Amino acid sequence: MKKFSFLALIVSLIFMLVACSGNDKSSGSEKGSKEELIGIAMPTKSSQRWVDDGNNMVKKFEELGYKTDLQYAEDDVDKQIEQIENMIVKGAKVLVVASIDGTALTNVLDKAAEQDIQVIAYDRLIMETPNVSYYATFDNFQVGVLQAAYIEEALKLKEEAGPFNIEFFGGSPDDNNSYFFWDGAISVLKPYIDSGKLVVQSGQADFQQAATMRWDGNTAKSRMENILSKAYSGSEKVDAVLSPYDGISRGVIQALKGVGYGSADLPLPIVTGQDAESASVKSIIAEEQTQTVFKDTRDLAAIVVKMTEAILAGEKAEVNDTETYDNGKKVIPSYLVDPVSVDINNYKELLIDSGYYSEDDLK
Ligand code: GAL
Repeated sequence: MKKFSFLALIVSLIFMLVACSGNDKSSGSEKGSKEELIGIAMPTKSSQRWVDDGNNMVKKFEELGYKTDLQYAEDDVDKQIEQIENMIVKGAKVLVVASIDGTALTNVLDKAAEQDIQVIAYDRLIMETPNVSYYATFDNFQVGVLQAAYIEEALKLKEEAGPFNIEFFGGSPDDNNSYFFWDGAISVLKPYIDSGKLVVQSGQADFQQAATMRWDGNTAKSRMENILSKAYSGSEKVDAVLSPYDGISRGVIQALKGVGYGSADLPLPIVTGQDAESASVKSIIAEEQTQTVFKDTRDLAAIVVKMTEAILAGEKAEVNDTETYDNGKKVIPSYLVDPVSVDINNYKELLIDSGYYSEDDLK
C-alpha cells in the first residue's frame, strides 16, 4: 500500500512537470519570447498625460517580462527621429510611437520596416507611410462632439435666443487628431453659427486661423490676448471658448483673467478641454475651466500591450475600426476607446473613484 502511494506520487510529479514544461512552451511561442525590447517614443514630458501614458505602458510591459525603452523628445521632431533610430539599433521588436509631427517619420519607419520591426501609432496617427501596423486611440471625432455638446447644453443653445459669443481654438496642425476634434465640434456648432445664434467676434472661425502649433498653452494665451483686445474692447463679452486640450484651456483662462474675467460682474466663459490633466481638474474644482474630456490612458496602454503581444505571436490584433483612419497611404486598423466628458458634477466618480487620481492629486 505504502509502496503504491509512493509510486503514485512519483508518477503524478512527473506528470505535473511535463504539463508545466508544455505550458511554458506554449505561452512562450504564443506571446513571443519575453525579454524582448519594446521601444516607446513619446512626444513631450511638458504635458502630464504623456508622462502617464509612458509610465502606464512601461508598467504593463514590464509586468509581462518585456524590456522597454521609453523616450521623450520634448516636441523636437529631429530628436524623436533620432530616438526611434536608436531603438532600431538597440534591436527593438515593436515600436509604439506618439508622433510630434505625424508626417515626419516616413524615412525612419522605412528603416524600421527593413528590420521587420512593426509599429503601433499611439493616440496620434502617423501619416504618409505604409509602415504602421495598428493605431490605438480614442474616438477623436467624438472628443470634439463632447466638447461642443457641452457648450450647447451649458449655453442652452436649443432654447435660448442668443446671440452668444464664442471663440475657437484648434489643436496643432501637424497632428491628425486636431482635424477630427475640430470636425466633431463643428458638426454640433455649425447650425448655431449659420443661424447667427453663435457669433465669432474675432472672425477667426476656420481651423487654420484657430490652430495652435504644438498645442502650446502660451501660444494660445497670446492669441486669446490678441482676440480680447481687438474684438472685445467694447461691451461684448466672451460666452464660450472651444478648446481642444487642457494646456490650451489654461492658457486661454490666464488671458481672460488678465483682462478681468473671473469676477462676479464678469464671470469666466464656458471653457472646454481634453485629457483631464490634474492642473485642469483642479481648475474645474476652482470653477475656472468648465469641462474636460477624460481619456483613460490605462485603457489605451492595455490595448497597446495586447496589440504588441499579437504582433509578436504573428497573429492579428483585435481592432474595432477599419474605416476611419486613412494615413494617406492606407487605412490603418484601429482600436478606438471611448472618451468621456468631465465637469464639476462627475469628476469624483470618474477620476477619483476609478483610481485615476487620488484626492491628494487634486489638492
Ligand atoms: C493630441 C491628443 C490629445 C492631447 C493633445 C496634446 O494628439 O489626442 O489628447 O494630448 O495631443 O498633447
